[in-house]
Amino acid sequence: MTKKMTITSIKKSKGVSPLVMITAYDALFARLFETDADMILIGDSLNMSFAGKSDTLSATLEQMIYHTNAVAMGAKNSFLICDMPFGTYVNKKEALKNAIKVFQETPADAIKIEGGEDRADIIEYLCSNQIAVCGHIGLLPQAVRSEGGYKIKGKTDEERLQLIRDAKAVEKAGAFCMVIEGVKADVACEVAKSVEIPVIGIGSGKDVDGQVLVFSDMLGLFEEFTPKFVKKYMDGATLVKSAVKNYADEVKSREFPQDIHTY
Ligand code: KIV
Repeated sequence: MTKKMTITSIKKSKGVSPLVMITAYDALFARLFETDADMILIGDSLNMSFAGKSDTLSATLEQMIYHTNAVAMGAKNSFLICDMPFGTYVNKKEALKNAIKVFQETPADAIKIEGGEDRADIIEYLCSNQIAVCGHIGLLPQAVRSEGGYKIKGKTDEERLQLIRDAKAVEKAGAFCMVIEGVKADVACEVAKSVEIPVIGIGSGKDVDGQVLVFSDMLGLFEEFTPKFVKKYMDGATLVKSAVKNYADEVKSREFPQDIHTY
């Protein structure tokens, strides 16, 4: 059994070894990821890959709590981060009320909220009330409608400087690590170097302190679209479809079940 990561060991890994984060939404997959992932994120991306919606915005706190508990059943020895869904941290009071609900109703070790300098007061308030916070800067999926799409960040000097300010503000507010999403690789590298807590990249190049991928993307199960940054470590969709076709063919031909499957 691998040793469960802690806030301290996560922070200490900076500059030592890249951190491995993966999403999971249920016990079945979480159990399979537990050995190799340092942290499991119950991401609101489940609203897309699990619930089939076109963005993350309609995920609810109750759904995040349900899935966090399911993941916890499969990965009892993993550091778990529950994503706070859209609209649940609009101000300090709401954020704390909802984060306490997550901590009381699940065994999550931390929560994740999107935003940089603009959300630093909320992160600080949560941290000062014993809520461990993972930040999320750069491309913010919960801003997809207000920004009119998923926009890569760090293309201009102004954006580069803002990202550094965001990272520093998130660190100063007390977050123990942060995700950086959809940022030009050279800028993400500079951002990671500008803070002392781990910066976990997604679509932000290799020169950061770790990587996170949505599991259904990296297993090739999500077919709607594949962002450029995703590496498919297996062609899950083809494997699953071919297995189900074999099953259907064998049912129709009465090849399945055989004697060994029969009481
Ligand atoms: O919801 C999610 O899965 C995430 C990752 C993209 C980091 O926030």
